[in-house]
Amino acid sequence: MVRTLLVAALMLASTAVVAQESNVEELAQVCSGCHGENGVPQEKTTPIIWGQNEGYLYLQLRDFKKGSRKNDMMGPVAETLEKADMKALAAYFNKKTWPDLQQPSAPKDVTATAMEAINSIACKGCHLDQFQGDGTTARLAGQQREYLQNTMLAFRDRSRGNNPGMSDLMNAATPDQLKAIAQYLAGLQIIGGTYGR
Ligand code: HEC
Ligand code: HEC
Repeated sequence: MVRTLLVAALMLASTAVVAQESNVEELAQVCSGCHGENGVPQEKTTPIIWGQNEGYLYLQLRDFKKGSRKNDMMGPVAETLEKADMKALAAYFNKKTWPDLQQPSAPKDVTATAMEAINSIACKGCHLDQFQGDGTTARLAGQQREYLQNTMLAFRDRSRGNNPGMSDLMNAATPDQLKAIAQYLAGLQIIGGTYGR
């Protein structure tokens, strides 16, 4: 009797896992419409989410749903997601390999302008030495240039309001410096290990 119950419980548990996995796959198909079938986003203003840090992905979905981060495309998508979906999607996309958009490295003068602000604001203290980020801090290396520029300017004018600390930091740089930083970060590759992880 105990044994039969145990087997039944195990079977239930495993079907639940299967159901959840296929649910994530289904949800992820919606995301691919904009974030790309192969991880390369359709538009230059849409960020890479493949290989992005798990905690960061989850927090953004939560913030889009809460409305503390606003976007006409992501708002309606996040509204339909439950917390468990967001957690599952964050884990799912984190495991994918970050795509190489083959954005060129920034020229010397742009790099110099970028580095001046990067050093004075100590971006690497949080985003780490190769701008790979970790946990709830975003990976920036190799992200879409246009997206990076837009989102830093949005933090700066506080239209992206989900992290006031980042907004304060962005106000320590000029818009021209942020544009240079976007170009610099977009052209970065992560050295060592598999690309993007
Ligand atoms: C209609 C197009 C569209 C769809 C569908 C879509 N996204 Fe997005 N997503 C965007 C755009 C555009 C942005 C950038 C918003 C901004 O600039 O603030 C974005 C931003 C994000 C971000 C923030 C990334 C970052 O670097 O801050 C995450 C996470 C995200 N999307 C996850 C998802 C997931 C998961 C799905 C599927 C459930 C999905 N998106 C479906 C267009 C879309
Ligand atoms: C004190 C730690 C800290 C410092 C210093 C810092 N950041 Fe951030 N940054 C974060 C965190 C945490 C996030 C995620 C914010 C969120 O949850 O929306 C973030 C988000 C970002 C994003 C958004 C990424 C995306 O995919 O949308 C960009 C771009 C960024 N930071 C650039 C920079 C640059 C450039 C500097 C230096 C000029 C910098 N940050 C300094 C902690 C930091």
